[in-house]
Amino acid sequence: MNTLHVELGDRRYPLHIGPGLLGCPDLLRPYIASRQALVVSNTTVAPLYLEPVRAALADLRHEVVILPDGEQYKTLETLNTVFTALLEHRFGRDCTLIALGGGVIGDLAGFAAACYQRGVPFIQIPTTLLAQVDSSVGGKTAVNHPLGKNMIGAFYQPRGVLADTDTLNTLPDRELSAGLAEVIKYGLIRDRPFLEWLEANLEALLARDAAALSAAIERSCRNKAEVVAADERETGERALLNLGHTFGHAIETGVGYGEWLHGEAVAVGMVLAAELSARLGWLRDEQVERVRALLARARLPLAPPPTLSPDDFLRLMAVDKKVQNGRLRLILLRDLGQAVIAEQVDARRLRETLERSY
Ligand code: NAD
Ligand code: GLY
Repeated sequence: MNTLHVELGDRRYPLHIGPGLLGCPDLLRPYIASRQALVVSNTTVAPLYLEPVRAALADLRHEVVILPDGEQYKTLETLNTVFTALLEHRFGRDCTLIALGGGVIGDLAGFAAACYQRGVPFIQIPTTLLAQVDSSVGGKTAVNHPLGKNMIGAFYQPRGVLADTDTLNTLPDRELSAGLAEVIKYGLIRDRPFLEWLEANLEALLARDAAALSAAIERSCRNKAEVVAADERETGERALLNLGHTFGHAIETGVGYGEWLHGEAVAVGMVLAAELSARLGWLRDEQVERVRALLARARLPLAPPPTLSPDDFLRLMAVDKKVQNGRLRLILLRDLGQAVIAEQVDARRLRETLERSY
């Protein structure tokens, strides 16, 4: 096991990464604040991994809420079922929520923890690659609104993150690829040596080589922990973690939540960001080709859904958390391994990029 920390002063917390962690109750227990815990999971993950978590909680009062599986259930309505469970079980302000699942469960349970009785402790047990490298770390919690992805939420940090890499053995291939999109993102935005390592090791990752996966998760988490420690509430640098996300969220909202996986939409978004960066003279064509080639090898899509027109994109992208004073801000690439926040994006070049991307 390897342990990193997100350095946030008195809210500092550990990220434990390694195989077999679910079988180690001693790892989970120190982060449970009292004798009451609610595990939040879904219909796919619970049959696979709930038992060891329950065993670790055996001598505590613990309850379980099993939610339907899917991005389309990351809603205020589903959130309310978690609140109902907490209230029905008369859970107090000292209870701990445990999110067991992918990013949907982590974001939703985290937001429930942020709201219940104005905030109760929570722990992340991420079981997808995407959640282990990104969503469980850094305290962004949210649900979707029909008009915009992750629009209702809070910054709320977990007490600890337990990423058991063995859980990735049951992950469908398509979900593994979606997680690789976020892994590649770290290389593109701030870690060129990691990008080169990914180019050399992508097949090992696709084959679920345990050492390669652990190395990729640790390096991703190290990048994310550094950025979050420097800019927890996204007043600056943290926005760089959103490379590809403004385009990606438009795809997810536009085609309907759950149709495209988050990582797939981000992959297309990163291609569009790279192409726009080239149009602005920041990337060379062969660098854009490198981005495309790596994402294609990770079995990710490179082109947007044909049902979404450039006008649809521009309309949906206007509902973005990076919009300031009505102006769209995009994360673009000055170079491979060097992302920037572009404050004044040339509307004509953005439209051209979208029009030529299908
Ligand atoms: P997900 O939570 O929907 O999980 C993907 C699928 O895999 C689901 O069907 C799930 O039930 C299943 N699953 C989970 N673990 C499994 C396992 N070990 N074996 C077999 N099946 C398993 O999707 P995701 O990709 O994990 O997360 C996407 C969500 O994360 C999106 O809502 C996105 O907005 C959010 N996100 C949040 C942040 C953040 O910083 N908070 C960052 C990135 C993404
Ligand atoms: N996933 C982007 C962030 O955590 O800031």
